[in-house]
Amino acid sequence: MYAGGTGKAIITMKRVLLVGGSGMLGSNIVVSNSAFELYPTYLRNRIAHPRASQLDISDRDGVLKRVEAIKPEVIVHAGGMTKPIACEKEPAVAHRVNVEGTAHLVEAARGVGARFIFLSTDIVFDGSAERYDEDSPTHPLSVYGQTKVEGEELVRAGSNDFVTVRTTVMYGWSSRYTESMAEWVLRGLRARRELNMYHDQYRQFILINDLVAAIFELIEMEDPLNETIHVAGPELLSRYEFAKKLAKTFGLPEASIRSTPFDSTPQAAFTPKRLRLDTAKAARILRTPIRGVDDGLRALVALAEESYRERFNRIF
Ligand SMILES: NC(=O)c1ccc[n+]([C@@H]2O[C@H](COP(=O)([O-])OP(=O)(O)OC[C@H]3O[C@@H](n4cnc5c(N)ncnc54)[C@H](OP(=O)(O)O)[C@@H]3O)[C@@H](O)[C@H]2O)c1
Repeated sequence: MYAGGTGKAIITMKRVLLVGGSGMLGSNIVVSNSAFELYPTYLRNRIAHPRASQLDISDRDGVLKRVEAIKPEVIVHAGGMTKPIACEKEPAVAHRVNVEGTAHLVEAARGVGARFIFLSTDIVFDGSAERYDEDSPTHPLSVYGQTKVEGEELVRAGSNDFVTVRTTVMYGWSSRYTESMAEWVLRGLRARRELNMYHDQYRQFILINDLVAAIFELIEMEDPLNETIHVAGPELLSRYEFAKKLAKTFGLPEASIRSTPFDSTPQAAFTPKRLRLDTAKAARILRTPIRGVDDGLRALVALAEESYRERFNRIF
């Protein structure tokens, strides 16, 4: 963007408030960014970033004041209670953070005319259908999924410039504060620890860096989209299959990977076994390709070789 009036063109970067900058996705946005004036927030896990600040989205006044002070052009909401078990245990807290917190951010975004990019999840669906497009009726089985459905409704009703991105299980590198499924499996494989992986829970695993690139594209987009889009990997794999591919790609022995049924976990009571998102709409809207798991895992190796992981150490 160009600003000025004195005859001299000044290039200004878009101001972007990133809620959840210390999270798994947020930390990848922070270390990958070079195009935006980014204001990342955290709750408990401090970030050594010049524009970082602590923000609790359940505090309405705090949110309105912070947004008014920064006057972001875009708010990326990648924060909140994201662990389904914790939401199940504390539904009132989950509602306060994920629903009321989202309402505060939507209100604040509207106040300064900011675009609102909301991260949601595939588990707004119950898994009973073969595949889900953006217009399929939601039916969450969990408290977490229900708070996301309510968040989505608030965004749709309260924003003139929004995108809701429903995504799924992410894999990639992250900071010491978080551990993606790929990092957890790699740690187990290297320690030769027995890893029980569900052979019957299927998701469209997405490389975090691809999701980050899609979000960057949505920040840059000229006109308001005002749509929900499904951003997920192209193929459906079980966690067991994913772990096997990971071991192969990293040249680690697969012997410690055990196949186990998803029903063996208490989470099975409120988590769909198989979820397939139709991603055709996102493919039409976005230039960013979302890689399949084989290519994504090769990219993971390349990122490690390019010292991508070290970027986290300076900030988190
Ligand atoms: N991870 C996945 O596989 C996945 C799948 C589908 C959808 N999603 C969605 O993608 C988004 C990012 O997920 P993620 O895995 O990166 O999340 P995450 O690692 O759990 O990070 C959550 C972030 O929210 C912050 N936070 C928690 N409570 C807050 C509050 N009351 N006020 C302000 N900030 C608060 C945390 O701060 P501190 O850490 O500093 O306390 C952290 O920065 C979420 O919307 C999630 O629902 C994730």
